[in-house]
Amino acid sequence: MKVYVTREIPESGTAFLREKGYEVTVSEKNGVLTKSELVLALTEKEYDAVLCLLTDTIDADVFHAAPKAKIFANYAVGVNNVDVKEAAQRGILITNTPDVLTDTVAEHTFGLILAITARIAEGDRFTRAGKYVGWAPMLLLGCDLRGKTLGVLGAGRIGSRVAHHARNGFDMDVIYYDVQKNDLFEKEYNATYFSTAEEVLQMADIVTVHVPLLDATRHLINSKRLAMMKPTSYLVNTSRGPVIDETALVAALRTNIIRGAALDVFENEPALAPGLVELENVVLTPHIASATEETRAKMAVMAAENIIAVFEGRTPPNLVKN
Ligand code: GLV
Ligand code: GLV
Repeated sequence: MKVYVTREIPESGTAFLREKGYEVTVSEKNGVLTKSELVLALTEKEYDAVLCLLTDTIDADVFHAAPKAKIFANYAVGVNNVDVKEAAQRGILITNTPDVLTDTVAEHTFGLILAITARIAEGDRFTRAGKYVGWAPMLLLGCDLRGKTLGVLGAGRIGSRVAHHARNGFDMDVIYYDVQKNDLFEKEYNATYFSTAEEVLQMADIVTVHVPLLDATRHLINSKRLAMMKPTSYLVNTSRGPVIDETALVAALRTNIIRGAALDVFENEPALAPGLVELENVVLTPHIASATEETRAKMAVMAAENIIAVFEGRTPPNLVKN
């Protein structure tokens, strides 16, 4: 069985496949393959499976280039880069890597929340720039978390873990919006449900986004909804960039419509909206919320396991439904 891997991933995954007797080809390009490079690479051998990344656009052209491939195992929990409907029509299985990254992404989210509210990144820049001339009562005043309201958009696995930290670690109140009311979430985090995102945006001190990218969630946060947020509030995004209208966010941050934002994902990665990096009231990380050694190694094993399951006649454990 031949597996194509679109970019180097932790060896735990490729070694696992090789131990099981798979012939594994890893792209040698130190970067994202363009669409035509990917298509060309897939036509070089008759691949039985593909292990792909969130930076690869997996659509009909790509499926067409690998007619024998039974499974595309996405090395990510989000599958917005894959045309899942097209895969289903062709009988191709799509899998993702949920659960193993939940804790890691939630921890990074809390890191971002602390970095923006306690002005950690800004303070670091300030100190390195030699501007620190002594303790001062009014220097870089931030905002406490205890007793504040965290608004969670998307009460899934990651949103739940962030709510857990907010409630149990920081004594915050939790409110949430999701397409579905989640009784367990409410019970566990003493959380209050709102059936519209607007209500959460109006009430929360910190809004954290944990929805998948779908047509319905694209620009869920736009200029109109940013204007509903409190002027003292913060927006945090570790989900997918296009959920926020980034240009509208830059305008809102510039004019103090909200107090700050912390982003791990961007609308047109790796490009950033004009003006974003000039703002002091943002914290930016380069889509690394799941990037710990432990988690990335587990994701690699999980993607490999999904492939192996298919060829051992089992249902892959992390099958994505279309
Ligand atoms: C990362 O963004 C993922 O979807 O796993
Ligand atoms: C701050 O450094 C304090 O001692 O209050």
